[in-house]
Amino acid sequence: MPSIRINGAERALPADPRVSLLDFLRDHLHLSGAKKGCNQGACGACTVLADGERILSCMALAIQYQDRAIVSIEGLAEDGMLHPLQQAFIDHDGFQCGYCTPGQICSAIGMAAELKRGVPSYVSADVREENIVPSPDELRERMSGNLCRCGAYNGIVAAIAEQLP
Ligand code: FES
Ligand code: FES
Repeated sequence: MPSIRINGAERALPADPRVSLLDFLRDHLHLSGAKKGCNQGACGACTVLADGERILSCMALAIQYQDRAIVSIEGLAEDGMLHPLQQAFIDHDGFQCGYCTPGQICSAIGMAAELKRGVPSYVSADVREENIVPSPDELRERMSGNLCRCGAYNGIVAAIAEQLP
C-alpha cells in the first residue's frame, strides 16, 4: 500500500488521489496544527516540512509525497520538550491568537536551512554571497509568505533571529 511518513510514523496514503496534504493531515489524521487559512497558497498557515523543505500543504496532493517524510508542528517537540524555536516564540511573544504560529514555525525552520545553504532572497545584496547575514530585512523578506493577522511580526522576527546561528 502506498504510504507517507508523517512525524516519524508510516501512514497509508488516502485512496482518493485528490486529497490535499493539508486535508490529509487535518481531516484524516486529525493533526490540526497546520491551518487552512486561504487554501490557495497565499497565507502560509498550512506550511509543513517535506524532507526538511518548507511547503504549502494546501497546494500539495498527499499522494505527491508518497515515501517522503513530512513534519508538521506536532512532530517538532522531542521527549516532551518543545523545539527551541517553539520556546523562542513563547519567550518573544511571537504570537497572539496562535492561528498562524504552526506555519510560521515550520516555515522558519525551512527558511533557516535555506539560509544555511546560501540561498539568496530578493533583498540579498549579493546573490553570490554564501554566508548571508540574517538581518531583520532578510528575515522579514524570507518569512513574507507567512501572514499574521494579529500583527505579531516583531516578536516573530525576534524569536527567529534568536535561534539563527
Ligand atoms: S492555507 Fe495554504 S497558503 Fe493559506
Ligand atoms: S498570532 Fe494570530 S494570526 Fe498570527
